[in-house]
Amino acid sequence: MRVYFDYNATTPLAPGVADAVAAATRDLFGNASSVHYFGQQAKAALDEARASIAALVGAEASEVVFTSGGTESDNFAIRGAAEALEQTGRRHLIASAIEHEAVLNTLKALARRGWRTTLVPVDHSGIVSPDRVRELITDETALVSVMHANNEIGTVQPIAELSAIAHSRGALMHSDAVQSTGKIPVDVRALGVDLLSLSSHKFNGPKGAGALWIKRGTRMQPLLTGGKHERNRRAGTENVPAIVGMGVAARLASEKMAGEAVRVGALRDRLEEGILRVPGTAVNGARQARVPNTTNISFDHVEAESLLIALDLEGVAVSTGSACSSGTLEPSHVLRAMGFPPHRTQNSLRFSLGMFSTEQEVDRVVALLPGIVEKLRALTAKAGAQRV
Ligand SMILES: Cc1ncc(COP(=O)(O)O)c(C=O)c1O
Repeated sequence: MRVYFDYNATTPLAPGVADAVAAATRDLFGNASSVHYFGQQAKAALDEARASIAALVGAEASEVVFTSGGTESDNFAIRGAAEALEQTGRRHLIASAIEHEAVLNTLKALARRGWRTTLVPVDHSGIVSPDRVRELITDETALVSVMHANNEIGTVQPIAELSAIAHSRGALMHSDAVQSTGKIPVDVRALGVDLLSLSSHKFNGPKGAGALWIKRGTRMQPLLTGGKHERNRRAGTENVPAIVGMGVAARLASEKMAGEAVRVGALRDRLEEGILRVPGTAVNGARQARVPNTTNISFDHVEAESLLIALDLEGVAVSTGSACSSGTLEPSHVLRAMGFPPHRTQNSLRFSLGMFSTEQEVDRVVALLPGIVEKLRALTAKAGAQRV
C-alpha cells in the first residue's frame, strides 16, 4: 500500500482531467489566436476554461490571465505591479516572512534593483498580524503581498483586513491563493484583493498552467513581451491542453469543495489526533485558521529528514518544509520566521491530504509512526551517547 500525503507539493489529476487534456492535445491543435476554424475551436476551449476558473474565485472571466503556474503568477503580480507603479515614486514592497519562495525571491531580486522591501514577521501562530502591516506600510508602498494559505503549515491569513489596510494607503494588494484554491472558498471580491495567483496542479489539474486574476483597471507591466495574447497581459501562444485540464479541475473543485473540505478535514483531524498520541509531538501553527488538508507536526529528538526517509521506505510520502541544497539541510524559513528554535525547524513534517486520501491510509500512517519514531529516537540517543 502506497500512501500519498504530499498534496501541497502537487496533486494527482481529478477524474476526467487526463481525458480532457488528451482530447485537447489531439483535437484542439489550432493556435487560439488564429482566425480560422481551428483557431476558433481552441479559443472557445480557452474561453470555457477561463469561465470555470473565474467562477471558482468569484471573478469575471475577462480578468483571468493564463500563466505557466503559480511561480509565474507571483512573479507577474509583483514585478508587473512594481514596474507599473515605478513612475509614481512608490518603490516599497511588503510581503510576509512566510511567503513561498516565488514571492520572497522576487522581492529579493527587486531589492537588488533598488526597491525597498519589508518582510512582516509572524509569531508562533503563523498568522500575519494586520497591526504589524499597519505599522510597516507607508505612502510609498506600491504593493502588499500576503498568501491566502501557507503551503507548509496551512494557516489562512486575514486577507480582507490586509487588503483594506493596503488600500487605505493607496497600495495594491496581491494574494498567492495557490494553496487555498479548491480547499476553501476563495472570492476575490470578498478578499478585496487586486491580484490573485492560482496554480492548476495544486487543485488536481495538470502542471504547466496557472492564472493571475487582475482586477479590472489595475495597471500592470507585462512580464513577457511579444504578441497580443491574453489582452496584451501575457504574450505567448496559450497552452491549450493544460488550460483545458485546469478548467475541468476548476469546475470539479467548485462542485465538490464544500463536501471535500468536510471529508478531508475529518481525515486530517483523525491523522493529527493519532500522531499526537506519540509522546513529544506538537502541531506547528494555529490549528483553528487552517486549510482542512494540512498539518505540520514536530517530533522531539527526531531528524525530520530521517523520518521522511523511513516513512518513504514504508510507502508513505510526506514532506519537510526544509529544502536540501548542496547536501546541507536548510531549516524551514516558515518555521524559523514563526520564531521556533533550530531543533524544531528541523524536526517537523508536513502531512497534506486530498482528493484520493482514505481512512485506511490515515490509519496505516498512525499505526506506523510510533514504532518508526521510537527507533529513530533510540538511534539519536545512541549516537549522542557515543559522541560523549
Ligand atoms: C504557496 C505557493 N505559491 C506558489 C507556488 C508555486 O507554484 P507552481 O509550482 O505552480 O509554480 C507554490 C508551490 O509549491 C506554493 O505552494
